[in-house]
Amino acid sequence: MTKAKQTTGPKPGQKAGSNSMWGGRFASGPAAIMAEINASIGFDKRLFAQDIAGSKAHAAMLAAQGIISKADAVAISKGLDTVKAEIAAGDFSFSTALEDIHMNVESRLKEVIGEPAGRLHTARSRNDQVATDMRLYVRDVVDALDAALTDLMRALAEKADAHHATIMPGFTHLQVAQPITFGHHCLAYVEMLSRDRGRLRDARARLNESPLGAAALAGTPYPIDRKATAKALGFAGPMRNSLDAVSARDYVLEVLAACAICSVTLSRMAEEIVLWTTAQFRFVKLSDKFTTGSSIMPQKRNPDAAELVRAKPGRILGAFMALAVVMKGLPLAYSKDMQEDKEPAFDAFDAVALAVAAMAGMVRDMEPNAEAMRAAAMTGYSTATDLADWLVRSLRMPFREAHHVTGRIVALAEKKAVRLDELSLADLQSVESRISREVFKVLSVEASVASRTSFGGTAPRNVKKAAVEWLKQLKDR
Ligand code: ARG
Repeated sequence: MTKAKQTTGPKPGQKAGSNSMWGGRFASGPAAIMAEINASIGFDKRLFAQDIAGSKAHAAMLAAQGIISKADAVAISKGLDTVKAEIAAGDFSFSTALEDIHMNVESRLKEVIGEPAGRLHTARSRNDQVATDMRLYVRDVVDALDAALTDLMRALAEKADAHHATIMPGFTHLQVAQPITFGHHCLAYVEMLSRDRGRLRDARARLNESPLGAAALAGTPYPIDRKATAKALGFAGPMRNSLDAVSARDYVLEVLAACAICSVTLSRMAEEIVLWTTAQFRFVKLSDKFTTGSSIMPQKRNPDAAELVRAKPGRILGAFMALAVVMKGLPLAYSKDMQEDKEPAFDAFDAVALAVAAMAGMVRDMEPNAEAMRAAAMTGYSTATDLADWLVRSLRMPFREAHHVTGRIVALAEKKAVRLDELSLADLQSVESRISREVFKVLSVEASVASRTSFGGTAPRNVKKAAVEWLKQLKDR
């Protein structure tokens, strides 16, 4: 792999060691520690594709407006393609002396095409350049996450469809509450994830405006066409205020907030997988693909991926917090503080993308254990509410009284150490004499879930319908 050479040396008349991009008035270069704290190339190199896209749009606009020649614009565009290919191939040596991705790219462009490279930065500043790059990058992140969340939702909707009638206990306070279906549980997450995706979509619509052409902070005297560059980069239009354009990072915060909330959803799902795969629950099984062994306990099968997804909100919320604290109290317009937006944000974006992908893998991998779930659904007097409802409907008993009578029947079952449906009719009648044999029809877990046909309820036919609707909707996106 040949490393491309960099022009880091001084210009004619410039003192050795000073920056070749902005060193005109500097007599010497920065202290080593200054260069180290100043440089962002170590982490902003991941903006190279966005940086080059922005530069190409800018150069084409400059030529269209007669600010640079067509020939120069063509040379710049071709040169930028070369630089992009070099970086993409790993055939580029980044220079810390050149601080950031913007100057690394431009410096290399100069080596590749010579003099016309110096015209690219007309009517532009690194302030609107970095603002543009980061918006494009965050937009790409949002689009990739949107697709990944859609895939995860699809995986869950498929499970829901297959298990629309598979019975499991529903919990409140992590105590068995009422029987539900596994499909219903899966679809609850589809709903949550669709809101997470919606928050990203909302943020995308708000962030999709172009800062390019705001220049350093005040705009520029050149007859630029900001609408043209906005359009070329897929933005809805240019940002209306040049100060705001270079200062705003609220869009990064907003996407981080959406990622943080999404990571909380994923964390809850991950916790359920951790619980469900225990020997105590045995509700689902993960294959070797998503479990690990223990180096000392040969029998172990640990749900590490789920545990790591469960842990991700820490760093993602941390990234939101880090950037909010960086931005708080910053005066307009650009301040170098804002360079600190990138590392935590990149880390959080990577983390949430990994978590979504791992979760989709686990959902597809996990096999529910229908027997264990059904058995668990029958514990905890889970059909006690059904019994109370039967008393209300069949005996016209007020619900409060039915609740009380049922409580006494549960106490009797507890004393006899049997399930509600294992009590004899005589047992039931010892508490309420008007109870008839008909009551046994509502005491099974199957009858319980089948009865819950209210909109949004867990009845298998509801779940089947909802799963099919989701699958249809998720086909497109
Ligand atoms: N590396 C900088 C950042 O990430 C680019 C903008 C620098 N602008 C400047 N005026 N020094 O914010």
